[in-house]
Amino acid sequence: MKKLVLAIDGPAGAGKSTIAKLVAEKLGYVYIDTGAMYRAVAWKVLQTGQPVTDENIIQTAKDIDVRLRYESGALRVEADGTDVTESIRTPEVTGIVSQVARLLPVREKMVTLQRKMAENGGVVMDGRDIASKVLPGADVKVFLTASIEERATRRWREMKDKGYDVSMEKLKEEIAARDKMDTEREVSPLVRVPEAELLDTTGMTIDEVVAAVLALCR
Ligand code: CDP
Repeated sequence: MKKLVLAIDGPAGAGKSTIAKLVAEKLGYVYIDTGAMYRAVAWKVLQTGQPVTDENIIQTAKDIDVRLRYESGALRVEADGTDVTESIRTPEVTGIVSQVARLLPVREKMVTLQRKMAENGGVVMDGRDIASKVLPGADVKVFLTASIEERATRRWREMKDKGYDVSMEKLKEEIAARDKMDTEREVSPLVRVPEAELLDTTGMTIDEVVAAVLALCR
């Protein structure tokens, strides 16, 4: 059977990575988390201790070697040989990642890598510009969303499980600010292409969303 290419886009906290990972597992495909790649650049910018300016971000992105690898089926993210899978999820990285991701040279480098990873098919890729820019020829395109309340609640639970004590109001503000930046930026903004299936996951269980995406693959 032909190996498909699935593109899943949507705003922060819509559940893209959870769903994409499970769908990939069910299909025996590879999951590609493009957000993790921008996060790796953001992480390295913070590591350098330099001010977070466009110039420093672009220089960091130019030098960085970002890799996604799979260990016992789980995705690991590496930046210059360091495993950053956990360290790219801190509030500090989240706080600057959209600033990093709006810069053209950063995107050009990451998009080239992303396309290369998808060239043999059998991939589920999630992000903001996958259907519109990275893989416009994808076989299945999904735009995953949920209400801001639900997205903030999901993120709050996730952060709490990791031991972060964050206020719901602050999270909501952070998510709204990131969505605004991602939607309004000039280069490859977050957009729902007309052919993408809109899946509003508010009130849906993970299993229901996975089933809905798998149904689109038949
Ligand atoms: O998981 P969450 O929705 O919080 O974000 P993510 O998927 O890890 O992506 C982090 C950030 O990277 C987003 O807010 C975007 O600014 C950027 N991003 C992007 O611009 N393009 C992508 N294909 C993926 C992520």
